[in-house]
Amino acid sequence: MKDRMKVPLFDLTRQYENLKKDVLKKLDAVFTSGNVVMGSNVKSLEKEISNYLGSKYAISVANGSDALRLSVKALDIKNGDYVITTPYTFFATVSAIVLNDAKPIFVDIEEKYYNIDLDQVEDVLNNHPEKEKIKAIIPVHLFGKSVDLERLEKIKKKYNIKIIEDAAQSIGSVWHYSNGEKKLTGTVGNFGIYSFFPTKNLGGYGDGGMVVTNDEYLADRIRRLRVHGSSKKYFHEEVGYNSRLDEVQAAILRIKLKKLDEYIDKRIKKAKNYEELFQSHELDKHIDFPAYFNNRTHVYHQYVITLKDPKYRDKLKSYLNEYGIGTSIYYPLGLHLQKCFADLGYKEGDFPVTEKASKSSLALPMFPELTKKEQEYVVKVIKQFFKK
Ligand SMILES: Cc1ncc(COP(=O)(O)O)c(C=O)c1O
Repeated sequence: MKDRMKVPLFDLTRQYENLKKDVLKKLDAVFTSGNVVMGSNVKSLEKEISNYLGSKYAISVANGSDALRLSVKALDIKNGDYVITTPYTFFATVSAIVLNDAKPIFVDIEEKYYNIDLDQVEDVLNNHPEKEKIKAIIPVHLFGKSVDLERLEKIKKKYNIKIIEDAAQSIGSVWHYSNGEKKLTGTVGNFGIYSFFPTKNLGGYGDGGMVVTNDEYLADRIRRLRVHGSSKKYFHEEVGYNSRLDEVQAAILRIKLKKLDEYIDKRIKKAKNYEELFQSHELDKHIDFPAYFNNRTHVYHQYVITLKDPKYRDKLKSYLNEYGIGTSIYYPLGLHLQKCFADLGYKEGDFPVTEKASKSSLALPMFPELTKKEQEYVVKVIKQFFKK
């Protein structure tokens, strides 16, 4: 191929070019005020996020991992309790359970969709030998794709079980109910959590996170836990953490929140474009692509394809790298097989869909500023790979 290009997996600098003036103005105001941690921008961001999501309370924290860890603690989940979750997720979903001395019960993901399989969740809730110890479920809206929220709400009610939605990757994605209602990921559980890590659809220039809830008691509890368990300075009702959001991140996130829907629309367009390009080059023989651009059930935090034959995955990754194209593997090893969780007693073969996904999936470049030309190049190089 003659004209080689460089196409990154993700590029924050292009977005900055468009936001620079606003960002620098806001930052100057923060630095001039001298109020740099949990000030007026943090308060406003919390209000704006709760309005955007339609959730009563939004409490900012230092990152998405803390949002999870504090949520588990706020539900009084502790040693001897079990929490159901997926082994095909970012590590923090599961470490939040273990760091609270509780035990994860893994359930496999759905073929193709890669979200937790709710049939299997119900099976565990009905048939696990110690089912009375199961206190919560942490479903993950993986890669930006909503879990069936209507079903999740039914499970929550039927089994009287707590739910923490890990919406770290999926802010703004929507589930459509059979009665025509729409709800956003993160808003139907007892808690919903979000990450503002820079690569996220709503990302800062450092770490940041948010917990949302409709429950006043739980909101107060998170507010307390993020400042060493104290509601009144230097008086501590419980032992908490230091998990505060700073003004720099909040000021930047407020600018970007106004553009979030526009960014999501752009991602959806890129996803559609990838799909059309794959089809026109007959690459659907070799790869499955995520087909969820309808009605915003997928906001494409990551654009993850699946190689029909897993033996090509690593070879394709290296080939794309040779041609200047950034890719990533989310995730190369299921969490049930991680060394640090060996004492949970899981083994290879326990979760076949997760294990297959970790061997056959590949994330391609995806961000709102990605150009058509770049996408055409990515698809051309993939086509060339399969022609070899
Ligand atoms: C599914 C999921 N949960 C939790 C987190 C943790 O968020 P953070 O990186 O902000 O701690 C992430 C971040 O990558 C994530 O993808």
